[in-house]
Amino acid sequence: MINHFINKKHRGTLSFLREFVCNPLTVGAIAPSSPNLAKAMLHNLTLRDEDTVLELGPGTGAFTSFIRSALPNPQHYLGIELEPRFVLLLKREFPDLHFIEGNAEQAVQLYQHTELKLPSVIISGLPFASFRRQTQDNIINNVAQLMASGSVFRTFQYVHAYALPSAVRFRHAMDELFFTHHRSQVMFNNIPPAYVLTWKAQ
Ligand SMILES: C[S@@+](CC[C@H](N)C(=O)[O-])C[C@H]1O[C@@H](n2cnc3c(N)ncnc32)[C@H](O)[C@@H]1O
Repeated sequence: MINHFINKKHRGTLSFLREFVCNPLTVGAIAPSSPNLAKAMLHNLTLRDEDTVLELGPGTGAFTSFIRSALPNPQHYLGIELEPRFVLLLKREFPDLHFIEGNAEQAVQLYQHTELKLPSVIISGLPFASFRRQTQDNIINNVAQLMASGSVFRTFQYVHAYALPSAVRFRHAMDELFFTHHRSQVMFNNIPPAYVLTWKAQ
């Protein structure tokens, strides 16, 4: 009954909070990202008919709806999400997109099953700063195998966690593979404020 009076946005937020309480290290945030951060995550990415997008950790779809609007062909999308409840919600919310309940540590294997061509863009909502070293390495290794020349990898890091050794380590590991990254201005219109980070494969 109460559910009836709670709108879609609040259901997503509540579901997010509940998962955070159960799995703080993998969910990594108490609330979904803001629409402003989502816009910044898609900023300057022009997606053509043939382009494909891989989203890692879509959560409740804060970035997914913006990806859906920017992507000419919805069949050229794959979302890999660990939490079963989020996957159910995503499938309901975006019936024309393809989601797999799975671990980004197996992204190559999962992606290959789809027979999509290598992603032009990888959008990641994964909380790299709260991952242990081995998880970071496994995911970075998968990302490296999925990036073709010209592909873009984009993620965000919270300003308050930016100097954490795990966050710095992640950036260094990515810089070693893709030379250097672009960092946006602080996105104050997200709680908590965040930077958007972009790497491009040569
Ligand atoms: C910080 S939330 C971001 C969610 C959404 N992109 C947003 O910005 O609101 C991180 C998401 O990554 C998912 N996640 C964490 N570890 C993962 C993994 N190894 N593989 C796939 N998804 C993972 C979590 O379940 C959660 O949905």
